[in-house]
Amino acid sequence: MSITSIGDSRPKITTATLAERKSKRQPITCLTAYDYATARLVDEAGIDIILVGDSLAQVVLGYDSTLPVTVDEMLHHTRAVRRAVKRALLVADMPYGSYHTSPEDAVRNAARFLKEAGAEAVKLEGGEKRIDHVRRLIDAEIPVMGHIGLTPQSVHAMGGYKVQGKTLSAVEQLMRDAVALDQAGVFSLVLEGIPREVAAMITEEVSAPTIGIGAGPDCDGQVLVIHDLIGLTFNPPAKFVRRYAEAGTLISEAIEMFRRDVVEGNYPSDSESYHLPKDTGAALDAIQERKRAMS
Ligand code: KIV
Repeated sequence: MSITSIGDSRPKITTATLAERKSKRQPITCLTAYDYATARLVDEAGIDIILVGDSLAQVVLGYDSTLPVTVDEMLHHTRAVRRAVKRALLVADMPYGSYHTSPEDAVRNAARFLKEAGAEAVKLEGGEKRIDHVRRLIDAEIPVMGHIGLTPQSVHAMGGYKVQGKTLSAVEQLMRDAVALDQAGVFSLVLEGIPREVAAMITEEVSAPTIGIGAGPDCDGQVLVIHDLIGLTFNPPAKFVRRYAEAGTLISEAIEMFRRDVVEGNYPSDSESYHLPKDTGAALDAIQERKRAMS
């Protein structure tokens, strides 16, 4: 089988596909996934990029930031997603601390995502200050997705989750970050939490496709955290989130129906039970009949 075909009519998405999409101005879709079932649904729906985001820390593991999640936890979830994904490009997020120490650590940890979990690329946060890391990863044949703007791993450095790029100097820095990453060879660039005008300028300037989240409609593609999109979160959504379903409500209702049925003796019914084969049942009846006769 060709590595660009997945055995059905859908062509495999590669970094080259994404570059072509940008040149043809065809929008790119990206969603997060962290487990087999969700990843299957996302892949089968035709989403182009599946990101095992470190948002895993918050939406799946219940932490209040992305900082605590470890490489081993990210690997565990990336493997589950890998087993589901056939068509999409599978990108794994490098968690906090896995690349901040040195480019050597970045390569060592990123290589684990490719070797041990089947990821096809990694994502890391930061602009100019990560250029050495990005170059070293690309030298090691590891495709890199950049991520600038509101970078959640910098929550303490930023003083909270705040929209970035609002002053002239901040816009200039964002542009320098974007151009540096583009020149270093990232295959795509996530723009998070920045004014749409700035995202539009960056998208125009760089050759790598930009993937926006809270960055307006002029990016080359859009990404959302799947739990936000399906309504499976417990905090009010950010301004940019569009909820396409209320999965939390749906799941709560199903759980409540199950609870009520069990308490009221309505679950399971006879038709939801297994039965003995006829001859075993008859033999058992006969034994019980003999026991009753003897007592
Ligand atoms: O971790 C994540 O889910 C992300 C996306 C929001 C881009 O980084």
